[in-house]
Amino acid sequence: CGIVGYIGNKNTQEILLEGLSKLEYRGYDSAGIAVFTNDGLRVAKAKGRLANLEAKLEGTPLIGSAGIGHTRWATHGKPSDVNSHPHTDESQKFSVVHNGIIENYLELKEEMMREGHTFRSETDTEIVSHLIAREYQGDIVKAVQKAIKYIRGAFALGVLTEYEPEKLVAVRQASPLVIGVGEGENFIGSDIPAILKYTRNVYILEDGEMAVLTKDAVELLTIEGNFIAREMIHVDWDAVTAEKGGYEHFMLKEIHEQPKAYRDTMLGRIDHANHQVVLPELKLSVEQIKNIRNVHIVACGTAYNAGLIGRTVIEQFARIPVENDVASEYRYRSPIITPETLVIVVSQSGETADTLAALREARANGAHVLAITNVVGSSIARDADDVLVTLAGPEIAVASTKAYTSQLIAFYLFGLYLAQVRGTMNKEEVAHVLAAMEALPEQVEAMLGQADPIKTYAEHIAKHKHLFFIGRGQDYAVVQEGSLKLKEISYIHSEAYAAGELKHGTLALIEEGIPVISLVTQESVMEKTVSNIKEVKARGAEVLAISYEEHAAELLKSVDHVITIPKTLPILTAAISVVTLQLLAYYASLALGHDVDKPRNLAKSVTVE
Ligand code: G6P
Repeated sequence: CGIVGYIGNKNTQEILLEGLSKLEYRGYDSAGIAVFTNDGLRVAKAKGRLANLEAKLEGTPLIGSAGIGHTRWATHGKPSDVNSHPHTDESQKFSVVHNGIIENYLELKEEMMREGHTFRSETDTEIVSHLIAREYQGDIVKAVQKAIKYIRGAFALGVLTEYEPEKLVAVRQASPLVIGVGEGENFIGSDIPAILKYTRNVYILEDGEMAVLTKDAVELLTIEGNFIAREMIHVDWDAVTAEKGGYEHFMLKEIHEQPKAYRDTMLGRIDHANHQVVLPELKLSVEQIKNIRNVHIVACGTAYNAGLIGRTVIEQFARIPVENDVASEYRYRSPIITPETLVIVVSQSGETADTLAALREARANGAHVLAITNVVGSSIARDADDVLVTLAGPEIAVASTKAYTSQLIAFYLFGLYLAQVRGTMNKEEVAHVLAAMEALPEQVEAMLGQADPIKTYAEHIAKHKHLFFIGRGQDYAVVQEGSLKLKEISYIHSEAYAAGELKHGTLALIEEGIPVISLVTQESVMEKTVSNIKEVKARGAEVLAISYEEHAAELLKSVDHVITIPKTLPILTAAISVVTLQLLAYYASLALGHDVDKPRNLAKSVTVE
């Protein structure tokens, strides 16, 4: 979900809608705003995209000097007008927008129903407006402080009351919130892009903190009511980097930004004179690195898939055993963590609740936690012991592309760094990998100029309901990402299988004409993969092989189509081969007429567990 809020003399409705448009990627099940008008606090909300709300407001705008807005990704209660935010109490004098989840809302709701309150929605948020109304005795700040004592969970709140129209109150408890400072106007936002058009001066709230905004001042407090002094941060992001820049979709733009993301992520981290990786930002000492006994890589979704590559890289370069975990599973399996365990959490947004919870669990158990993230100042970046920032720039499309590949670059760099310190690779070996890494951006640029065969093949698979991806070793890890990408945006069902494993059960699903996409870049196991290709061919599958030019002729003896990619070291192939799979998913989604950047049921950043 996304939150925006405004207090000042400008066009409140316009500012709220503009902010929400920048947040739509956080959820788009519904949107709503509440504004102080001359007739008091007025709310407008609508199910579906922001455009529906805009249509509703056309002709009857909400004119006033303060307001809050919300774009929703449903957690409690289906997407509907009534479940949309802002929520109000019965008196309609208190209005609330909320991100996160209130864990004990059912309990509270029952209690308040016994007290005579009536609820209109199925949401956990509505309870907050009722609680604040119940606790209100002439001071909105105190009422909010009292109300949140009753609630358990993760939340960011924006609160308005008709009784004190000169105030906007914001609270952060484990769900991100920033305060934007303007001249004669102030803002709140769950993300910086929501307010970037209006101000670049921000305060970042920490957990357990609140802010009281008037048009001329911002006061920061703990939720117990103690004043906090905090330095204002100046954000120097370029707002246009978040625009589509000539591409039809953000996803395509972001696919094309990968060469730049690779370069930016490597920038300043390679010491060319000495052929080594330098990561001065890390606190992890030489001593600590030498003592690492095992690594856990924990993440969700695409970031998890990047971690699968991270494992092969760290194991090969530094010879340290690595385990991969899905963040939502990690802390419930009592992971074996010692002070010699390095936990790497990977997260584009740095706000994924599952990953954040895993990070906290790991730290509580004494592990050193390194975060690989794309957002400086995100919750995950702030909670980790060490941060390795990927420099992919803001990623807007829900389907992650450049964030994934820059996570790969971060893993290559970090793997080499571990190897240097632990002496598992010599200078020549490191130099060899670095040279190959630095060639990647140009190789990807070349591929992006030759996407036509991928587009043609994508249009072909768009006619199918099911398909398979197969690969061995690193190719297996990459096809898992390729399969996820395709599912996310084309809604074609696919499964990614280790090529050798298919025959142990899933081969039963292969029937006449089913597409099988095989990634064949790992030369040490190429013959074995070709045997597996023959197994599916014999059952009627139609096979595409993605491989290097030099193998195309040979592969064509066994497969129906070949798409070639530039060659790099076996350990680095993911950074090239995945681009083909990203484009495949993109063009399949396009061919099917889906909303590429905003696939159904998904959100860019999931801040609930
Ligand atoms: C959501 C997104 C995925 C993403 C995952 C992890 O589910 O839809 O695309 O991979 O979260 O996000 P993160 O920001 O932690 O990398």
